[in-house]
Amino acid sequence: MTSEFKPKIIAFLCNWCSYAGADKAGGQRLECSAEISIVRVMCSGRVDPQFILEAFRKGADGVLVLGCHPGDCHYRNGNIRAMRRMAVLEKLLVQFGIEKERFALDWVAAGESEKFQKISQSMTEAVTRLGPLKLKGYVTR
Ligand code: FES
Repeated sequence: MTSEFKPKIIAFLCNWCSYAGADKAGGQRLECSAEISIVRVMCSGRVDPQFILEAFRKGADGVLVLGCHPGDCHYRNGNIRAMRRMAVLEKLLVQFGIEKERFALDWVAAGESEKFQKISQSMTEAVTRLGPLKLKGYVTR
């Protein structure tokens, strides 16, 4: 893929931990990927798999879901639910021809600005290497 390709990556960030971690990264002026568009949600458990499929359908080349670490969810077990749902979704994405590197679920605490930076950069690099998403199967643009 040429270096001109700039991927579109949608990141669903839990308000209480991951969004705060991203905000802290911004406050510290850490260099984060400009290709990531953040959608702030109250909990990673609020991210319906349909949101992710819709993001890919509407042109995302990659999707990230970031939440509080297990045990730290402000709604007790939203992140555990997210983890279970996303495990099923990952299998479905492969069925649709979406490479597994295009989707990631991870945990970023409010103080982990450097972890947010690292995830945003590594996801952008991985998706850039893959190139634009070409959908097939049931999910069409
Ligand atoms: Fe952050 Fe649930 S409140 S994952």
